[in-house]
Amino acid sequence: QKGGYDTFMEKEIHEQPYVIHETLRMYMDHTQIKIDELDKMDWHFEDFNRVYFIGCGTAYHACLYAQYLFDKWLNIPSFCMPASEFRYGDPKLDKKSLCILVSQSGETADTLAALKMAKEKGSKSIAITNVLGSTISRLADVTLYTCAGPEIAVASTKAYTTQLVLLCVLMIQLAQKMNCSILDVDSLLQDLQNMDVHVEKILSQKELIKDFSSLLKNKKDAYFIGRQLDYVSVLEGALKLKEISYIHADAYYAGELKHGPIALIEKGSVVIALAMQENVAEKTLSNIEETMARGAHVILITSMQKVSSDYDHVFKIDNIHPYLSLIPVTIVLQLIAYYAALQNECDVDKPRNLAKSVTVE
Ligand code: M6R
Repeated sequence: QKGGYDTFMEKEIHEQPYVIHETLRMYMDHTQIKIDELDKMDWHFEDFNRVYFIGCGTAYHACLYAQYLFDKWLNIPSFCMPASEFRYGDPKLDKKSLCILVSQSGETADTLAALKMAKEKGSKSIAITNVLGSTISRLADVTLYTCAGPEIAVASTKAYTTQLVLLCVLMIQLAQKMNCSILDVDSLLQDLQNMDVHVEKILSQKELIKDFSSLLKNKKDAYFIGRQLDYVSVLEGALKLKEISYIHADAYYAGELKHGPIALIEKGSVVIALAMQENVAEKTLSNIEETMARGAHVILITSMQKVSSDYDHVFKIDNIHPYLSLIPVTIVLQLIAYYAALQNECDVDKPRNLAKSVTVE
């Protein structure tokens, strides 16, 4: 059942090249994106005046990513909220709103309640789920499936990366339908299609990542920092680490460190820093130096070509489109969390207090 791996989580992390490829295959015809489900609808995307992205936990992080892309490419104001906030927050919903709900299981109580509320107010909905016939797929106007296959481990891994892939594909398709121009669309599509190779490359370096994660041995806290889209990745990295290793982990915008969190940094603190977004990478490096000056041990994950030898733990990632770099980064962060959890002798597949699908409020 575990296919030769020690745990379901390990197996599911390693399945990512394949399931990413499968998800792309479902919605791409050679180099063309083709989401047939959207063509069957009688709506025009130009008619919407706002879009909400809604999900919980890891799925919420996928929503943050999607909102970022939407803001860049489409001319519709877009918002992102955890379902548990959205449903109690009196959001503006009417016939001109589109709700895009993301849920691996399709059974999360808050996400379903948010969808029902949106429907009652006349809004249109698209569900992104991994489970055929799930409740969300029966309620939404359109359902798009990730092809992650069953995800058994409580910590979401392959469901998340396939959500990112599908949301990126969806955004490109909507942008094309609305005649919005996307900068570098060819390189984006090319990197999407080569994503399985990029992910394989990360997996082949797992011993190095395991070595880096030994920095977390006997640590009670870890600090994740990043800017722009890297911030989405650090949120997910911190969630993964805390849920399976029980190490307290927080994620910060790197530029926000000096507005408070840096007070926590002391000799021996562990900082996991991302510098994947070229336009802000140098800024993040200077934030990293501020933590090193206070004695922090830093794991730097970057695609920058030249990195000073002052950093002891540097993990280099191929330079791919900045809107896609969070996929390989996420694999690195999943592996860091995984090895940290093993070091702490945690049951990675069934972390305490957590259920795979949160069907109660
Ligand atoms: O099934 P869903 O995607 O709706 O689940 C949402 C969250 O409960 C889920 O992502 C949770 O945060 C994971 N355990 C994270 O690894």
